[in-house]
Amino acid sequence: MGESMKGLKRTHYCTDLGKEQIGETITVMGWVQKKRNLGKLVFIDLRDRTGILQIVFDEEVANEVDFAKAEKLRSEFVIAVTGEVISRGENGINPDMKTGMIEINATELRVLSESEIPPLEIEENSDVRDELRLKYRYLDLRRPDMQRNIILRSKVSQSIREFFAEEDFLEIETPMLTKSTPEGARDYLVPSRVNPGEFYALPQSPQIFKQLLMVSGYDRYYQIAKCFRDEDLRADRQPEFTQVDMELSFVDENDIMDINERLLQKVFKDCLDVDVELPVQRITYKEAMERYGSDKPDTRFGVELVDLTETVSDSGFKVFDNVVKSGGSVRAINAKGCGELGRKQIDSLVKHGQDYGAKGVAWIQIRPDGEEKSSFTKFLKDETTAEIKEKLDAQPNDLILVVADNNKTVFAALGALRLEIAKRLELTKKDEYKFVWVTEFPLLEYDEDAKRYVAMHHPFTMPMEEDIHLMDTDPGKVRARAYDMCLNGVELGGGSIRIYQREIQEKMFELLGFTEEEAKDRFGFLLDAFQYGTPPHGGLAYGLDRMVMLMCEANSIRDVIAFPKVKDASCLMTNAPSTVDDKQLEELSISLALKDK
Ligand code: AMO
Repeated sequence: MGESMKGLKRTHYCTDLGKEQIGETITVMGWVQKKRNLGKLVFIDLRDRTGILQIVFDEEVANEVDFAKAEKLRSEFVIAVTGEVISRGENGINPDMKTGMIEINATELRVLSESEIPPLEIEENSDVRDELRLKYRYLDLRRPDMQRNIILRSKVSQSIREFFAEEDFLEIETPMLTKSTPEGARDYLVPSRVNPGEFYALPQSPQIFKQLLMVSGYDRYYQIAKCFRDEDLRADRQPEFTQVDMELSFVDENDIMDINERLLQKVFKDCLDVDVELPVQRITYKEAMERYGSDKPDTRFGVELVDLTETVSDSGFKVFDNVVKSGGSVRAINAKGCGELGRKQIDSLVKHGQDYGAKGVAWIQIRPDGEEKSSFTKFLKDETTAEIKEKLDAQPNDLILVVADNNKTVFAALGALRLEIAKRLELTKKDEYKFVWVTEFPLLEYDEDAKRYVAMHHPFTMPMEEDIHLMDTDPGKVRARAYDMCLNGVELGGGSIRIYQREIQEKMFELLGFTEEEAKDRFGFLLDAFQYGTPPHGGLAYGLDRMVMLMCEANSIRDVIAFPKVKDASCLMTNAPSTVDDKQLEELSISLALKDK
């Protein structure tokens, strides 16, 4: 059993100490990172959440009992040390350590608790398997890189709260046990004990509640809110994640974008000391797709798409002609600097394009010495090839990649190839943050499986005024007053100006294929609310996890969430989800259709 702390108070965190404290007697507490026993001297690296401090137990200074205890210390023991701050000898100075000029000459040691040998090393960037890290997450969280991420996350939340307070926003909580809100994913359901057979849904976002708060007159709302979506996980998706959610009344999109730019500027300055230049670039969805093949463009590098449809129409090359005839397009990128790639590497790029749906990727390579190779120019007239090369500014050492298909596939494949080229050529720098607003999204998207339109953002998004007349005749063409904030190719957040008139909202539900009954059943309370004086309003929500992931340059949002889930949405530490007692199920009037595994 460990010793008691009684009578001892921690006076400093490890890295609060420096030359200024030399001569002071202090008490520090933390974990043993490392021990070196030199006979008459025992050195301990003590770690707390701020970093590492060197402690020395000198046989001639420390009392006998404490010195003997120091000799027995092992990694991850929790200790309290009192001693004097002394200067390290010239030879002992460690310029890499914040506390590298000093050490503590210990006069008292208490072992507050011992530790088994940990199953993973508590070290910066240790390459331990993810499964092990997540099983012992409480140990993984002791590692300095994880601590930096979690501490940064806390700073980000604090900076966000400061901003909203300064801007007169109200922080208001919305329910976790609620009715399903349709954001496109499946809901997590919670059975009700007192209403047998009925279920709550955990919120996919506070969307409807924040709109109702606008009806109630709380005209600047924000919340750092937990959201739940039962969807397939990816590196930037968790079933349970956090939104920085806001809604404002009596505003248009420019007001919302302006506030959000200033919010991001403050957060990046406070937390990373990075200056975000305002205003943030704005491009329309159409432009984003045509230039970058993506609605979340990474604008840190060029390699932009070029439209060749006109150049190659009637070229006599069947592949191109058929695509053009059927309303598709032919587009290309120029991977400058890829003129030396070998056939295998080009094939792997072709394969990458195919992974994103392209039937093939045609190419022209101009070797550094000017020699030209191509998979398709033999089928073209010389002047067509010359025009393609001119349009793409082809020079020696270039590789032109061409995709011909329906627009969706062309954008997906070339968008992905563009990112792949940037990765291979290392076109992005560390610490570079390129924000971009993407605006004028389509209101609706046609879902081929469901054979109906679905909302691209959500059903409460206002159509652009000049497109409202198309809602009856050509709904697919209607643009929305929606905007996404993207950073380095990641969708950081999205929002819109909302519908606040009952008639337009009903029209929208109709376009989405809801019968009047269904709309009433699911959203009756919202439609009713709109009848009692609704201010024009709009808002936006960021993924906090994604924001912090990008700020930490982490590869996955798992690295910025203290206790994340893995791919099958389970928690390796607690083993959730798990079965429950029959009695619990009975209370909930639930019987399982599942056969025993
Ligand atoms: P949206 O669905 O675009 O909008 O979500 C907003 C932001 O939340 C983040 N996000 C996620 N982060 C981690 N894991 C997930 N599974 C996940 N899903 C979404 C993204 C995304 O940009 N109610 C609207 C906002 C509004 O209109 O005001 C909404 O939820 O960063």
